[in-house]
Amino acid sequence: MIRATELIERTRNGEELSDAEIADLVLGFTRGDVPDYQMAAWCMAVYFKGLSGRETHALTDAMIRSGATLDLGAALGRRVVDKHSTGGVGDKTSLAVGPVVAACGVPFGKMSGRGLGHTGGTLDKLESIPGYRVELTIEEFIAQVRDVGLAIIGQTGDLVPADKKLYALRDVTATVDVDPLIASSIMSKKLAGGGDAIVLDVKVGDGAFMRTVDQARNLAERMVDLGKRAGREVVCLLTDMDQPLGSAVGNALEIREAMDTIAGHGPPDFTELVLELSARLLALSDLGVGLDEGRGRAESAVADGSATEAYARWIRAQGGDPDPSLLRNAPVVRDVTAARDGVVTRLGALAIGAAALDLGAGRRTKEDSIDHAVGIMCTKKRGDAVARGDVLAEVHARDDDMAASAVAAVLGAYELGDEAPPEHGILLDVVS
Ligand code: URA
Repeated sequence: MIRATELIERTRNGEELSDAEIADLVLGFTRGDVPDYQMAAWCMAVYFKGLSGRETHALTDAMIRSGATLDLGAALGRRVVDKHSTGGVGDKTSLAVGPVVAACGVPFGKMSGRGLGHTGGTLDKLESIPGYRVELTIEEFIAQVRDVGLAIIGQTGDLVPADKKLYALRDVTATVDVDPLIASSIMSKKLAGGGDAIVLDVKVGDGAFMRTVDQARNLAERMVDLGKRAGREVVCLLTDMDQPLGSAVGNALEIREAMDTIAGHGPPDFTELVLELSARLLALSDLGVGLDEGRGRAESAVADGSATEAYARWIRAQGGDPDPSLLRNAPVVRDVTAARDGVVTRLGALAIGAAALDLGAGRRTKEDSIDHAVGIMCTKKRGDAVARGDVLAEVHARDDDMAASAVAAVLGAYELGDEAPPEHGILLDVVS
């Protein structure tokens, strides 16, 4: 018999629960023995009172124990590295990092999610590729990582079922933005997926969960702590999401940009992030290289074409055709032009994400279908000088009406001024 009322009351009063009590609550909720209203009340108590590091670890551990786990490292006989991004606008990073890392001889097997709201999901982007299968069996997944070096599939329902149920509850009870709950949700899935070392990309800015560097650092510290308690190495990069990442926002457009980037022709901010993340992953892998050597190898994989070859091998192995000319194009493309001379002082990530969502590139509810062809190319970014009439962005739309609304929305996302804003790179901080 789980004394849920007492446990809610104690968390509400700021008292710590034991590991066994937290496990009772989480596993009881997953089984259906603890009703939604009690779990929601507990999440709200956590929102106000927080959880200690030990309690957050106990929560994460119980969530992992709610389902199956995967030991990819044992199956491959290799040390396995994994990455995760907290999500943002135009975040196609795994699509480029996977091929770079695989080209350097480090196996990359990743489970990814779908997008919701203004943030896109890696699986949706991959489904722009004709024939690509996001659902492999675990056996097929392991075999592909072993034979091809790279696979990206959907999160299987067997891993961390507690998170699926808890996240759905948090989503409708205003308890998503709670650090210990976000940290345990992300880390339970990463730890259950079996990565020996994990590089986390915590996005910061108006298009991200975390609006400030301080908030992001707190979350990052919690996740690094969870990794240590689980005996894994975790490095968190805090990266800029105050403007969209790269130029492309929208599924097929982002696939093209990822391909351009691994061929050496990507936008500077996205290229920098891909190389930095790849270098970190290589440095944590079993190659035995440091960060500088990792960076050099990642750059070589881009320069010598081996990352592009790894991409093509991966997509073919997973049933898709890597030819970019087969990606769908939107029927209507409209320019968004600058109304004055000046410099881009701001390009709101959230506003661009919302405009892409309105075009049909994302989904408002889990049931919505998405249009893979539509989206926005932000050709000018923060700090770029522009002359009146210059193209700031392109809108790729299904029809003229949608294009017209998106042009107005994208124009509203750009702020032009006389003075360049303070410059900073994509990497804001590192927590390890
Ligand atoms: N991403 C997750 O996987 N879980 C959260 O709670 C928030 C972001």
